[in-house]
Parts: sequence; C-alpha cells; structure tokens
Amino acid sequence: MSVLSGKKVLLGVSGGIAAYKTASLVRLFIKAGAQVQVIMTPASKDFVTPLTLSTLSKNPVHSSFYNEEDENAVWNNHVELALWADVFIIAPATANTLSKMVSGNSDNLLIATYLSAKCPVYFAPAMDLDMYRHPSTVAAFSTLQSYGNTMIPAESGELASGLSGEGRMAEPENIITFLEKDIESKLPLRGKKILITAGPTYEAIDPVRFIGNHSSGKMGYDIALAAAHEGAEVVLVSGPTHLQIKHDSIKTIRVTSAQEMYDACHNYFEDVDVMIAAAAVADYRPKTVAEQKIKKSETDFSIPLEKTKDILFSLGEKKTKQFLIGFALETENEIEHAKLKIQKKNLDLIVLNSLNDEGAGFGKPTNKVTFIDKHFTIEPLELKTKEEVAKDIITKIKNHYNV
Ligand code: CTP
Repeated sequence: MSVLSGKKVLLGVSGGIAAYKTASLVRLFIKAGAQVQVIMTPASKDFVTPLTLSTLSKNPVHSSFYNEEDENAVWNNHVELALWADVFIIAPATANTLSKMVSGNSDNLLIATYLSAKCPVYFAPAMDLDMYRHPSTVAAFSTLQSYGNTMIPAESGELASGLSGEGRMAEPENIITFLEKDIESKLPLRGKKILITAGPTYEAIDPVRFIGNHSSGKMGYDIALAAAHEGAEVVLVSGPTHLQIKHDSIKTIRVTSAQEMYDACHNYFEDVDVMIAAAAVADYRPKTVAEQKIKKSETDFSIPLEKTKDILFSLGEKKTKQFLIGFALETENEIEHAKLKIQKKNLDLIVLNSLNDEGAGFGKPTNKVTFIDKHFTIEPLELKTKEEVAKDIITKIKNHYNV
C-alpha cells in the first residue's frame, strides 16, 4: 500500500505547458488512495481545463478567491484549504510562481494558500533550460528550500521550445515515487522495530479439541497497522484468527499455543525497541495432550491443567532498552490490579480494559481503556474505536521517543 493512501493532497497548478501532465498526476494520486483537491492559477487554465482536474480529483477545482460570475459567491477560504492538506505540491511550478512563492506576492489563490500552509510543501519546477539555469531561478530554488520546501528536480529532455536539456517537469510517475520515498524517509517511527502479540492462543487437549478464548485479535492487528503507517518495522506474532494484514513493513508470524508465542517473542525481543502484548494468552494448558481423540466413556471428566509461561513477565525480566506495553483486563479493583501488573511485569505502560464499561472488550469494534504509565499517571480515555485506541498507543510511543 502506498504511503500516500488516505493522505490529503493539495495540488497547486501554475501556468506552463507541463500543466497538461497534471491530469495523469491527479489520476495517480487517486490510484494511490489519496484525497485530492486542486488549486489552479488563472494562467494554468489555458493549458488544462478545470473540468478535467475536477473530474479526475472528484472535487471542485479552486482558482480564485471567489466566483465572480456568481453573485451569491462565497469567499474561497485559502487558510482552510491549506490546513486541510497533509501534503501540498506545486506542479508545475513556473518561474513566475516560484518567484511569487519566494517574495510572498499573493495575488492569486495558489500563493495565498501556499503562505498559509503548515504541511510539507513540494514544488516541481518546469521551464525552459536557460530559465532553469538562470541565477534568479537557482536563487529561488535555494530560498524555497531554506523555507523548508522540498524541490522535485526537473528532468532532462525535449522542451516545448524545441530545445533539449534540463527543465522538463518530472514525469507524474516519478513525482509520485519521489513523494512516497520522501514521506517514508521522514515518518516518525522510521528505524524503530516493534514486536506485537495479538489474538488468542489455543491449548490442545487432544488432536481435535483445545482450550481457547474469544479474542478476535483486532486490537493487536490495528496497533500493527498504525505502527507501520508511522514507519515502524513490525513483527506481529498472532494467535489463531481469521484476520489478515498486508503491509510491506509487517512480518506476521502465526502461532497456535502460548509456548509457540513465547518462543516467537523471545526470538525477536532482543532486537526490538518496543514490545506490545495485546494477545489474550491462555493462562493454563492441559498438563498432557492426549495422542488420540478422547472418547466419552466417563460420566465425569476433568483435565489437569498447568500454568503457561507468562510471556510478558519473561520479557520484562529480559528488558534492556525496550519500551514495554502490556494490556490488562480487569473486572474489580481495576486500577490497583493494573498498577501491580506494571510492577510485576516491569512495564512502561499498561492499557487497562475494564469489562465494566459498555462497549469494551472481546469481539467489539470499540474499546474503553485507561492508560497507566510506570509512574502511575492515570489517563482514562473515552469510548473509542479500536483503530483510535491503536493510534493513541502509537502516540504514547512517539512521545516516549520525542518524535
Ligand atoms: N500475558 C502474556 N502471557 C501470558 C499471560 C498474559 O504475555 N501467559 C500478557 C497479556 O498479553 C497482557 C498482560 O500479560 O498484555 C496481562 O494479562 P492478564 O491476563 O490481564 O493478567 P495476568 O498477569 O495473567 O493476571 P490475572 O489473569 O491474574 O489478572
């Protein structure tokens, strides 16, 4: 999945022949899963029509501060547009637009929006080769970069003037690749390795029966995805669940029993920065597993159980640099029990689920959790979807690393 998926992309189109290529660019953004809004300078409309770009972006195109033909026209709020965007890309960026960006000459909606933008800004210059090399243009490139904007360099090739050389706007495919790589390289959890357990464990009684629980695995899977979206490299150790996850940065290890989950976690733990134990691990397992299916010959039947290893506890003992997050599901004396668990398992943070809260727990899409950190700071959250709770947990990790 592209890192652009779900991103709000604002595309500023200025008036150069390369503007015709923005039709492909918008299409590629949409294909990557981005939401797109387009701002056009008045001159750019000579090269590509607003109808083309509004059709492809599935949004009205913005080009002036208000619609002069509509007497009920409302003010086109450039501040709102700028704040809406996760990414602002100006392509093509002509010499004229670049110089206005440098000087702040906001005589059109594109520049006014540029001046209001707080998100990362990219610009893809397009002009003739002599213009591209002119000291004034070169100075504009470096000034804009000193403002924190990122340049997507022009490519070499045949130019509209008939000359050949540097100045041609980067091809739409290359702009997309450039953005994806740049955004990925700046993700806050880039370089961090996170180990996550998810789902239930099944403890075999005989070849066909097991002891298990109702955990769906959703919480752990949502955390894995949220971590990967922020650039982390994730190892997801999952008990039996129908859930699947596809992401280049998530390696899923499927296990069945608590012992297999224990072994998998210990294989990876030393190397990771963060460990999150979201699995509902069975606390007990049958002492022996019958080799053959057990027949119903007895009236009464009992299975001797023994404790499974506490995975999180064992990792807490081994912990060096790792930020360790555990979950607790309590029904009484919740806060006190959770605090004891923090100490016993050497945790940095515990996510307390209370079954007393409506909407919380197994098989539900929502969760009502309270964060308690190792200093016993208590932070109750309102009822949220599991995706939102996952994002909150990732925020805690980002805060820990100050990113
Ligand atoms: N956990 C684990 N391995 C186990 C049992 C639990 O890694 N064998 C982890 C869970 O993934 C969770 C945390 O420990 O993050 C808390 O588990 P919980 O079952 O609430 O607490 P227990 O320590 O088992 O204590 P009790 O059942 O007595 O409340």
